[in-house]
Amino acid sequence: MSIYLDHNATTPVDGRVLEAMLPYLQDCYGNPSSGHRPGRESQRALQRAREQVAMLVGVQPSQVVFTSGGTEANNLALKGVMALADAGSGLVVSAVEHSSVLQSAYALELTGYELAVADVDDRGVVKAAMFEQALNEGKTSLASVMLANNETGVVQEIARLSEVARSHGVVMHTDAVQALGKMPVDFETLGVAAMSISAHKIYGPKGIGALVMDKGLALQPMLHGGGHEAGLRAGTENLPGIVGFGAAAEILQTELSLRIDHCGQLRRHAEQALQKIPEVVIFSQQAKRLPNTIFFAVQGIEGATLLMSLDRDGIAVSSGSACASGSGEPSHVLQAMGVEEGLAHGAVRVSFGSGNTVEEVDLLISSLQRQIESLLKLNSVWA
Ligand SMILES: Cc1ncc(COP(=O)(O)O)c(C=O)c1O
Repeated sequence: MSIYLDHNATTPVDGRVLEAMLPYLQDCYGNPSSGHRPGRESQRALQRAREQVAMLVGVQPSQVVFTSGGTEANNLALKGVMALADAGSGLVVSAVEHSSVLQSAYALELTGYELAVADVDDRGVVKAAMFEQALNEGKTSLASVMLANNETGVVQEIARLSEVARSHGVVMHTDAVQALGKMPVDFETLGVAAMSISAHKIYGPKGIGALVMDKGLALQPMLHGGGHEAGLRAGTENLPGIVGFGAAAEILQTELSLRIDHCGQLRRHAEQALQKIPEVVIFSQQAKRLPNTIFFAVQGIEGATLLMSLDRDGIAVSSGSACASGSGEPSHVLQAMGVEEGLAHGAVRVSFGSGNTVEEVDLLISSLQRQIESLLKLNSVWA
C-alpha cells in the first residue's frame, strides 16, 4: 500500500459514499425519465442528490446541472456562454487555469472569439488591475478565473473579481473543482454567475460533476438530445455517480472544518521540515493557499525523477498537475509566475487528505532527505 499524498489529483471514494451508491448499481436501475415505479424511485434519488449538492454550495436544486465532471462543466460554461454571445465578442481567462478552461478558451479563440489572458504575480495571484484592463479591451462577454489552483493551491479573490466583472456586464465563471472540500465554497458569496465542481475531489466517484449557475444565465447546451438537466445536458443520468456525489456533498458539510484543521496541521508539520532542507523552494507560501497543498521544487533535481524515487519508497506525489505529468514541459502555472525554467522542472506537489497521518508526513520527509542526498551525489559524479 502506498502512502497516498496526491489528493488534488483525486481522492479515494469514502466508504459511506460507496454504500449509498451500491443500490443504484444493482437493484435501483430504473431510468429517472421513466414513468413507472422503478423510474420514479430513481427520479427521487436524483432529486435528493441534487438537493444535497445544492445545499453544500448554498443554491436552489434547480441551479445544479449534473455533468460528467469538472472538465465538462468548464467546457459547458465557456462554450455555452460564448455560443450565445455576440459575434466578435471576447473572453478573459487567467494564465493559471486548469487545461479544461485554457484549452476551451483556445478552441473558442480559433473559432473567432477574442481571447485575453490575465497575468498572475510571482505568488500566482491574479493581478486585479490586469484583469480589469483585460475586461475593458474589446467587447468581453465572459471571464473565468479558478477559485483555487490545483498545483500551487493559491486561492484567488473571486468575490472581488466577480464584482469587477459584474460592473462591466461580464458573465463571471469560476472553476471551484479544487477548492470544494478544502475551504468553504458558497455560490452567493463568490458572486459568480456559474461555478464548476467535481465529485472525485471530495471523496466521491469519478466521472460526475456539476455546473452550478444563476437562474437567469443563458447557456447553449453542448450535448443535444432528451430534455435532461433542464435541457442543458442531454443523456440518461449517471445515477450511481450522482447519488455518490450527493452523499459526498452531505458528508462534506459536516466534516469540512475537521478536514481543514487536519490537513492544515499536516502541512505545517511538513513545511517546517521542508524548510530545513537547503535545496527546497516552496512556491506561493506568501499567498492564501488551500490548507492541504504544498508545491515545491528541489534545486538541481528533476521533479519527475524525485516522483519516481519517492514512488519506489511507496510514496505517491505528483510532479505538477495530473494531466501535465509526463509531458516533459514545466508547469504552465510556474511559468506564469515567472519561476526560472530549471527550478520549475524540479516541481513536486504534495496534497494531503483526511486519511493521512503525521507519521506518514515523517516518512515522506525522511524519504525525501535520503533521495535528495543520493540524487545530488549522483549529479555531482556526472557533472
Ligand atoms: C482545477 C481543476 N479543474 C478541473 C478539473 C477537471 O475535473 P474532472 O477531473 O472532474 O474532469 C480538475 C482536475 O484535476 C482541476 O484540478
